[in-house]
Amino acid sequence: MAAIEILKYPDPHLQQECRPIETFDDELRAFAQDMVETMHGAIGIGLAAPQVGDDRRLLVADLSVGQDPEALLVMANPKVEREEGEIKGDEGCLSFPELILVVPRPAEVVVSGQDLDGNPIRVEAEGLMARCLHHEIDHLHGVLFIDRVSPLRRDLARRKIAKRIRAGDW
Ligand code: NI
Repeated sequence: MAAIEILKYPDPHLQQECRPIETFDDELRAFAQDMVETMHGAIGIGLAAPQVGDDRRLLVADLSVGQDPEALLVMANPKVEREEGEIKGDEGCLSFPELILVVPRPAEVVVSGQDLDGNPIRVEAEGLMARCLHHEIDHLHGVLFIDRVSPLRRDLARRKIAKRIRAGDW
C-alpha cells in the first residue's frame, strides 16, 4: 500500500494542463496502482493525477469504492468524445474536503482513452459515472468543480475555503 498525499486547493498543481502519456511502462502501472489505493483510502470515487502532484493525463474511478474489482476504471489520455444532456447534482472533490457544490454535468458521456498497456479503450457512461469521468477529465485540464458553478457560488465557496484555511480546518 502506497497512498500518496492528496493536494488541496489552491495548490498550483490542480490548475495546470496535464501532458499526454506516451510511455506505458511498469512505473506508470505502479503509479496507477498507488492512485487507486489513494482513492480507496480516501473513500473517493475518482482521482486524477494532478491531485497527487503528477502532470500526466491519468485518472482512476471506482463507484464501488473498492467493493467490486469490476467497477474499477483506470484510463490514460481520456477524452470526452461525446456528451449529451445536462443534470445538476451534488458533487464533492478530494482536493476540497467536505465541500459539496451543485454542479451541472452531462447526463451521458462517451470517453475514449487508453489502458495501462496503451491499448485504446472506450467507455460509455451515464449518471454518476458520467459525472465522475467528466469531473476527473476536467482535472487533467486544470479545471475544478468550483469553475463549473456560477460566479456568485464560486465566490461564496472561495470565501468559505479561505475562512477554513485561516482556521486551520482545511
Ligand atoms: Ni476532484
